[in-house]
Amino acid sequence: MNALFVNACVRDGSRTKRLCDAYMRKYWLGRGVDAQELEICKEPLVPLDEEGLFRRDNDIASGALSGEDYRLARGFAKADEILIGAPYWDCSFPAVLKVYLERVCVNGIAFRYGEDGRPVKLCAAKRLVYITTAGGYLPAENSLELYLRELCGLFCIPELRFIKAEGLDIRGNDPDELLREAIEGI
Ligand SMILES: Cc1cc2nc3c(=O)[nH]c(=O)nc-3n(C[C@H](O)[C@H](O)[C@H](O)COP(=O)(O)O)c2cc1C
Repeated sequence: MNALFVNACVRDGSRTKRLCDAYMRKYWLGRGVDAQELEICKEPLVPLDEEGLFRRDNDIASGALSGEDYRLARGFAKADEILIGAPYWDCSFPAVLKVYLERVCVNGIAFRYGEDGRPVKLCAAKRLVYITTAGGYLPAENSLELYLRELCGLFCIPELRFIKAEGLDIRGNDPDELLREAIEGI
């Protein structure tokens, strides 16, 4: 199995990264999984501008999708399982992850639009795992999970696992204990 860890954990000593490590130890390590880590904070990621969008539309139209601009999308498309780890920031995640996803959502690599305008699966992924930690508590109906479900719909990924540890910055809570509980629940 090919697996991809999209590491958007930004800071040194990240608690989200600790949860991700626990997941990979449990499900990937020693199980013949060929795992790649992508540290997206080290990638030269910039949001699409008008010129970039124009170039990309042309490349999609001509099928010229083998260049460096599409490396991240190709890496995403070939993974059988994708783990995204990102801290809960401003009710969602760090902007660098949105820019990464923008680079991955290329019509013709991980998915394409069919004749009827609906997405058709091109990627290998059977499962998307998303791991986050939050200082406070996510509302039961939070836009992050909704967004991830929609994203799985676009890529036609059948399974989404959402793993979180919450309340880590609430006074009186013991963040290490909360993390330990979250790791046990993985
Ligand atoms: C820029 C920034 C934005 C944050 N926004 C939120 C937020 O909207 N809600 C929340 O509960 N915690 C928020 N937090 C707290 C983090 O979610 C929390 O500390 C998390 O565990 C950090 O993960 P890390 O240890 O992997 O960096 C924010 C922290 C930072 C640095």
